[in-house]
Amino acid sequence: MKHILFICLGNICRSPAAEEVMRVKLAQCGEAAHYVVDSAGMIDYHEGELPDSRMRHHAAARGYRLTHHSRPVCVADFDRFDLVVAMDHDNLRRLERFAQREGRVWREVVLLADYLRHHQSATVPDPYYGGPEAFELALDLIEDGCDGLCEALMARTAQNK
Ligand code: 4NP
Repeated sequence: MKHILFICLGNICRSPAAEEVMRVKLAQCGEAAHYVVDSAGMIDYHEGELPDSRMRHHAAARGYRLTHHSRPVCVADFDRFDLVVAMDHDNLRRLERFAQREGRVWREVVLLADYLRHHQSATVPDPYYGGPEAFELALDLIEDGCDGLCEALMARTAQNK
């Protein structure tokens, strides 16, 4: 079983959407039984909250039901997750600072945007202060990136066989 953790700042827009999109993509590839997917944020301002209603609305229009409750990343996550997938470079810096503070290392950290196949973007930009188009763009990037990530994970599994 491989454990994947999606990370953004607040854990109410991008990472809970990525978590659910990835779950759906893995199920479509017949790989759901081999993965546990979760998400967390680098801040605790929204702890316990459902995803932002705008993200829930835009995701629902694409068939994704977002039910995750926001939580900040925690020390147990170092042991629990094989792969941490961040949305932007600020997330990466905060993940590294958190690891240094705790004297721990993440097993593997990547950017979701590195797996984009159809879009060109270095990050999945934060839609929180944007309009509807910012949420649509975030979902476009998340769907594209999760497709690419799924493919990369399948290729890895095939190599290790
Ligand atoms: P997210 O968006 O990182 O995609 O969940 C944000 C949500 C809340 C805040 C920032 C970004 N905030 O500052 O409260």
